[in-house]
Amino acid sequence: MKKLLLPALLLLTGLPSYAQSLRTIGNVRAVNIGNGQVTIEVNNANVLVQVYTPNIIRLRIDKKELGKDFSYAVIAQPVQTSTRISQNEKEILVATDSLQLRINKTPFAVTFLTPDGKVINEDEKGLTSSWSGDAVTTYKKMQEGERFIGLGEKVGNFDRRGNAFTNWNSDVFGYSTGQDPLYSTIPFYVGIHHGMNYGIFFDNTWRSDFNFGASNNRFSSFGAAGGEMNYYFIYHTRLADIIQSYTHLTGRMPLPPLWSLGYQQNRYSYYPDSEVIRIAQTLREKKIPADGITLDIHYMDAYKIFTWNKDRFPNPKQTTDALKKLGFKTTVIMDPGIKVEKGYSSYESGLQQNIFIKYPDGQPYTGQVWPGWCHFPDFTSEKGRTWWKKEMKAYFSSGVEGFWNDMNEIATWGQKMPDNVLFAHEGDTIAHPQAHNAYGLQMTKASYEGAREAMNRRPFVLTRAGYAGLQRYTAIWTGDNRAEDDHMLLGVRLLNSLGISGVAFNGMDVGGFTGNASVGLYTRWVQLGAFMPYFRNHTGVNTRSAEPWSFGEEALEIARNYINLRYRLLPYLYSHFYEATQTAMPIMRSLSIDYTHDPKVYDPRFQNQFMFGHGLLVTPFESQRTYAEVYLPQGKWYSLYTDAVSEGGHEYVYPMMMKHLPVYVKAGSIVPAQSLVQNTTEKPGDTLFLHVYKGEQPNSFLYYEDDGETYDYEKGQFYKRQIKYEGGQLVLEKPEGKRASQFSMLSLVLHGFDQPIPKAKTEKMAWLNAISRFDPQAGDSATDSCTVQRIHLKNENSKIVVGL
Ligand code: GLC
Repeated sequence: MKKLLLPALLLLTGLPSYAQSLRTIGNVRAVNIGNGQVTIEVNNANVLVQVYTPNIIRLRIDKKELGKDFSYAVIAQPVQTSTRISQNEKEILVATDSLQLRINKTPFAVTFLTPDGKVINEDEKGLTSSWSGDAVTTYKKMQEGERFIGLGEKVGNFDRRGNAFTNWNSDVFGYSTGQDPLYSTIPFYVGIHHGMNYGIFFDNTWRSDFNFGASNNRFSSFGAAGGEMNYYFIYHTRLADIIQSYTHLTGRMPLPPLWSLGYQQNRYSYYPDSEVIRIAQTLREKKIPADGITLDIHYMDAYKIFTWNKDRFPNPKQTTDALKKLGFKTTVIMDPGIKVEKGYSSYESGLQQNIFIKYPDGQPYTGQVWPGWCHFPDFTSEKGRTWWKKEMKAYFSSGVEGFWNDMNEIATWGQKMPDNVLFAHEGDTIAHPQAHNAYGLQMTKASYEGAREAMNRRPFVLTRAGYAGLQRYTAIWTGDNRAEDDHMLLGVRLLNSLGISGVAFNGMDVGGFTGNASVGLYTRWVQLGAFMPYFRNHTGVNTRSAEPWSFGEEALEIARNYINLRYRLLPYLYSHFYEATQTAMPIMRSLSIDYTHDPKVYDPRFQNQFMFGHGLLVTPFESQRTYAEVYLPQGKWYSLYTDAVSEGGHEYVYPMMMKHLPVYVKAGSIVPAQSLVQNTTEKPGDTLFLHVYKGEQPNSFLYYEDDGETYDYEKGQFYKRQIKYEGGQLVLEKPEGKRASQFSMLSLVLHGFDQPIPKAKTEKMAWLNAISRFDPQAGDSATDSCTVQRIHLKNENSKIVVGL
């Protein structure tokens, strides 16, 4: 008797005495089936099931009535989907053409299945969803061999199985490689097992926790300190499509200005103005291509945002103009803290307009950051954001084009903002624990929109903190890393994970922020940086100089070679940025995207390898390594430097040389490149070099160009061309868009084709060979291992077919 009564009692009342606050979800009591959605009354909760798309089903669960539906992350509405919803005594069934959800009624427990009935993901039936006080958690059965990837900026192995993580945006100067949490929150992960993969996006801004089988083999779980259990379940057969669906919900990045893809030189801090100009001039003199220079906090008067230090930068517009003449765009750092100082106009107007976050008694919250005691604008209100946009005028009139949002976790000395600080939350006041993780995202929204409106051109926006959806406004970098080998490699995993999590435009401090890199480490890091979406060199205030010329002649030459290579690859890179705006495919992509079910790509020996776009495989290693241990996935791979071919599906060991970072090109790849320029305002030569690597599998590349700086592409001002390589033919489809290509000639550079192609004109110019084989070190001695065919593109508006 006792045995039977106890579980029933638990379902109704939660656990007795010692755990009064624990409450399980209970059994289904009533079901209401509507148009593409189901409302369910459960003993201890209310549930709403919504079909968003054929591949996305959302669940909202709360122990009280479901509140107002609000999200800072999700911008999509459910689309009309053919959905079959039914129920019987035991179950509720929701089915689209791509996904099924079965809800067990006693107790309430969900199972997601493929259309043919394979279990993709299911609640752990003994635990399902429950509350401890206000904290809510959902427990999922751990599937055999299940792996977990994603969750944005998280440390540790790329496969997160066996670990647990917390989301609470934190200022973590010089963080360790095992530290959690870091700066940003993206509660989205992908689970992989039995040849299937799914995504879960837990849209909750409270402090949240994810457990991927840490100290247990029974379940994975996710939960938060408050708010709803509100998650989106995404299923596709391809991981790339899961990323696409996740960003269907949370948005994709707009095209950034082309210059922001160039090399950017930073330090904390370059000043005065003459020093900034000297750095820019030295980059030019030493023939190191570069597009950006960044001003860190010392440009300001006593660290007061929106001001300039009159001694160091007496005429900011003159300085940015001089930099512009040298081909550089200027980025400034902006922290949210507004110094409490009578007479400081931003402080005065902020007070007057009542836009600071405040205590319940109406007094603005005061915390210490660089300027000393500060108030903080409330970016969760339209009023606060509008105020910020107006204050940014100080920068627009000074010719600044890049906006670096820092310290927006919010960082304050002591790092303890009280829970009772209030945020407007779009007119629905909330307290700090709920607002914290969303603050950085809303700051970047204000910065991006302010800059876009005022400049009427694409701004470059960078952030340290953020929440899911941040890709709509900003690029991200991974904060204050250390000049250490394992940090460089951790950084690669952080960026690859951010890419899985919807943020394609990401980067890290190349060279390391704290500490001093050795010559070897610096060199390796710059080589890697050439393959990062956001490529900046940055270092802390008390470290040695870290410009490419600060580490001796050899390091300089290698850095220059790889920066050159990046500039030659700009047509390839920019086309991939365009792709990211359409599908959110990251530029730096973990091998898990293309080879999801190959266990080798998660092997700690190979987990740092990544694809740079569709075709190039980059293999990062510690600087002291004398040999490279590489895993090449299935297919054929060419060495980027020698064109030597290796069979995929194998591990290889190669001796390492400082001058080369091992990079491979997938057979069948199409890689557009241009002649070398020193910055992106310089016009490249008239020829687009289209490198084609012989392969058996059909392949295609979406080539894209536009003016690189305005929003005219939204009105059709672009040049887009599908290039296909299949069946021994290269097909350039008719171009789309209203723009002409900037190139009038096309050079086909063929790799791995034994015979010179019929009628091909083979060119033996050393510089061309250097480009054609992408060998950054190649000089006159390069041999010609590839053939070249030149085609006139001028007025070429129809389909071109070339037999290879
Ligand atoms: C923070 C940033 C760092 C910057 C410094 C000074 O530590 O993460 O990049 O240089 O503040 O502004």
